[in-house]
Amino acid sequence: MHGGFEHKLGVLFVCLGNICRSPMAEGAFRAVAEQRGLSCLVDSAGTASYHVGSQPDPRAIAVASLHGIDIAGQAARQIERDDFYRFSHIIAMDRANLEGLRSKAPRDGTARLAMLMDAVDGRRGEPVADPYYGNTQAFETAWSVIALGVEAWTARLLLESQTQRRA
Ligand code: 4NP
Repeated sequence: MHGGFEHKLGVLFVCLGNICRSPMAEGAFRAVAEQRGLSCLVDSAGTASYHVGSQPDPRAIAVASLHGIDIAGQAARQIERDDFYRFSHIIAMDRANLEGLRSKAPRDGTARLAMLMDAVDGRRGEPVADPYYGNTQAFETAWSVIALGVEAWTARLLLESQTQRRA
C-alpha cells in the first residue's frame, strides 16, 4: 500500500532531465521553506531517464552557489509511480513536463499536479524556459523565475497548512 502520507505536505519539483531546473527549484524551495518555517518533504525528479544518477549541471550548481545555495549533492532520478502518492504536490517547470506527468500519473494518484509559475499572480501557466542549450545568462534567468515561483509556493503552502491545522 501507499502508506498514508497523503495528509503530509510533500513537494516534488519536476523538469525533463532533473539536472538543471528542478534541482535549482529543489534547492531554492528548501531554503525559503526553512526560512519561513514550512515543514515539508522536498525532492526533485525528471520525466526522462537520460541523466539518472548525475549531479546537477555545473552551470546550475554555479548559479545556485552565487545565490548562496548548495545543490552539488543532488543526484538525478526519474519520476516513479510512488511519487504520485508520496507527494501532496508535484510541480512541473513547463507545459511539456506537466503533460509528461499527466501521462504517467496513476488513475488513483493523490498528488496535485501544477506548474511552478501557477502560484505567481499574473504569471499562471508561464514556463521556466529550459536553459540546458543556453548560456550562463539562461541559467541566471531560470534562477530568477524559479525564485519567484518557490516564494509563491511557500506562501501558498504555509496558508494551506495553517488552514488545515485549524480545520
Ligand atoms: P532540465 O534540462 O530539464 O532543466 O534538467 C535539461 C537537461 C537535459 C536535457 C534537456 C533538458 N537533455 O536533453 O539531455
